[in-house]
Order: sequence, then C-alpha cells, then structure tokens
Amino acid sequence: MESARRTFVLGAAAAALAPAQQRELRVAQIGIGNRGTSLLKQVLEQRDVRVAAVCDIDAGKRDAAQSLAQRDNPKSYSEFRQVLDLKDVDAVVVATPCDLHAEMAALALEAGKYVYCEKPLGITPEQVDRALKAARKSKAFLQIGQQLRYYPHVLEAIRQLHEKKAVGTPFVIKAQRNSTATQPGNERPRAAWYDDVKRSGDLIVENAVHNLDVCNWAAASRPVSCFGHGKKYLPKTIPAGSVMMDGFSVSYIYENDMHLDYSQLYLHPRQMKELRNGQWYIVFGSEGSLEINGGMVYPMWGEARKFLTPEIENGKEDAMSEFIRMIREGGRPFASVEVGATAALTAIMGREAIYRRRMVTWKELGVDV
Ligand SMILES: NC(=O)c1ccc[n+]([C@@H]2O[C@H](COP(=O)([O-])OP(=O)(O)OC[C@H]3O[C@@H](n4cnc5c(N)ncnc54)[C@H](O)[C@@H]3O)[C@@H](O)[C@H]2O)c1
Repeated sequence: MESARRTFVLGAAAAALAPAQQRELRVAQIGIGNRGTSLLKQVLEQRDVRVAAVCDIDAGKRDAAQSLAQRDNPKSYSEFRQVLDLKDVDAVVVATPCDLHAEMAALALEAGKYVYCEKPLGITPEQVDRALKAARKSKAFLQIGQQLRYYPHVLEAIRQLHEKKAVGTPFVIKAQRNSTATQPGNERPRAAWYDDVKRSGDLIVENAVHNLDVCNWAAASRPVSCFGHGKKYLPKTIPAGSVMMDGFSVSYIYENDMHLDYSQLYLHPRQMKELRNGQWYIVFGSEGSLEINGGMVYPMWGEARKFLTPEIENGKEDAMSEFIRMIREGGRPFASVEVGATAALTAIMGREAIYRRRMVTWKELGVDV
C-alpha cells in the first residue's frame, strides 16, 4: 500500500517537472460570465489540455462552468488567489470585469502562470504599467484577448498594406463602429460593472480598444497625441465621464506622422446606407485606399479589386490555440503584452482627451512600453 502511494506521489512530482511541451496542460478559468464561458469552450477544444479549476464570485456561474467542463471535473473557487496558489495549474484565463484584469494578471504572472487576459489590459495607465512590469519579470507570458489579431481576413489586409504596399505610402486611417440606437423598451440588462465607467473604462476603453488596436497595427506605429469629443446622447444627453458614452470621435497623430480619425456612434439608423453601418477601417495612401474588413483595394485611378479569397474571408480566429501552442513551444504570442498595453493606452489617451477637453499626449500617460 505504502509503495503504491509512493509510486503515485513520485508520478505526480515527475509530471509536475515534465516540460510543458510533453505533458497535459492544466488551465484555470477566472471569471466565467459571457466571455469567460466562450473562452472555456475554446479551452475545452484544445488537445491535451485539462480545465483544472473554475473561479467566479457568483456561485451560479461556477456551477454552470463546472457542468460545462464536467469531462475534466474542475475544482471550484470563489477566491482567485487560491487558484493562483495551485501548483499544478500552468495557465489562467482571466475574463473578469475590466478594472480587475491588470491586478489578477500581474499576480498570476508573479505566481509563474501563463495568462490569457481579456482586453483591455488595464483601464488606467497605472494598471497597464503594473501588468507590463509583471510580464517583463516573469518567465511565463501574457497573451491579450484581442482576437482580431488572429482573424485571417485582418491578417491578409495588413499583409496587403505592409508587404504588398497596396496603397503606396499610407497617410490617413478613417475607422468607425456605428450601430443603431436601442429602441426604448428593448434595452438589454447589462452587468452593473459595464455601466460604471470607473470599472469598464468607458466605451472607448472597454469596446473600441479592439478597433484602435487594428488601427495601430495598420499604422505600424503608436500615437503621440489625441483630441476627442463624446457623450451619452440617449435617452438624454449626459456629459462624458458620468456613464458609458454612446458616441465619441477621436483624432490621433502617430509617431510616424500618420493620422487616425476614429468614431463610434450608436445613433445610426439601419436603413441609412450613405454612411456604412458596423465596423470598418479605410487606409488612405499615395496610390489608393484599402478597406480592411471588406477586403477591398481601390487604386487611386484604376479598378477596385477584392483581395480576399473565400477561404480567407470565412476563416476563423484561433487565438486560444496560439496561446496553448506558445506555452508548449516556449514562444511568445503575436497578441503580446506590449500589443495589449499599447492598445489600452491608446484608448485611455482618447478617453482622457474627451474627459479633459484638451489634447492628451502619450508621454503624459507615463508608461514605458
Ligand atoms: N474579446 C472579446 O471579444 C470580448 C467580448 C466580451 C467581453 N470581453 C471582456 O471580457 C470581460 C468580461 O466580460 P463579460 O461580458 O463576460 O462580463 P460578465 O459580467 O458576463 O462576466 C464577468 C464575470 O466575472 C465575475 N467576477 C467579478 N469579480 C470577480 C472576482 N473578483 N473573481 C472572480 N470572478 C469575478 C463575475 O461574477 C462574472 O461572472 C470584460 O473585460 C470584457 O471587456 C471581451
């Protein structure tokens, strides 16, 4: 009996020492609401990966996650620090409200865990700095949940811009994310943290961080300064900084002198086609322009052409597979902590320009990325 127990203990110790590329990886999920549940499903699809623990302050969410992951019989926790103490957990997925990301991610990195952290990396410069510094000191890495970096059609559009020089020298980006206002009476209840700008970071940080990141990527640079304006228009006009805005515009200048105009407005009547609804990004250059989501190039004087094949256009993102692959291969993910920090700071800079009604510079955010 004793010898059987000894063999088991030695076996477990050997497993803990085996390099990550050779053994089953054990993942814990922290925050299992809407996004956390989608990410849990993605983790369950990975080969040789086990969901070791689930953590949420809401018992109902924990129970739902345990049933979803019943194949792996994960342990359940309400306190995330207890999850970070688990020696046999290799990686954590953080999908809690935005104001908690940086602290949870930093503590996880300090505990030696790999981190898949939902965007934004932080909602203040101090939070971004905290996560960045922890990642720099850690042997593990943080991948930011900016999954647009893994969409085949976006990757191809950026390749057309950077490698194929599809628009010649790029000068200006115009990007937008408009949608129709919610009809009174049809409002969807949102989590309390989402409506509290001190917890979400406001619409530009919680939401537009994805779009601003694509613009940073297309610009192949980062912003030096920003002006902006925005507010909550409906159901009544409320100044920026009080509740989540439903409309704003920001204008950035990049280190390489490119210029970005980005706007988001939830006042776009569905039937109005003169200005396109939804999300789009147009890069204007010396020889033409390119629309990233539609996959179109418009040469300045020639015929427009679509550069996406149906295969690329219908391709799915695989951010979670890259996370697992990079742990096994000892590499670094494309959606790195620096990508997350730059995107969060770009959005924070825009928000502060709107709130303070003046130009805000990258330098005054005080974070070294
Ligand atoms: N990448 C994307 O496309 C995408 C999409 C949606 C949301 N998100 C991001 O994901 C995050 C979560 O958004 P959501 O829509 O799932 O919100 P949600 O409110 O549905 O889920 C958040 C969960 O975190 C839990 N939680 C709160 N405090 C906690 C704590 N201290 N410890 C453990 N759990 C805690 C809540 O109980 C809840 O279940 C946000 O940061 C959001 O911006 C990303």
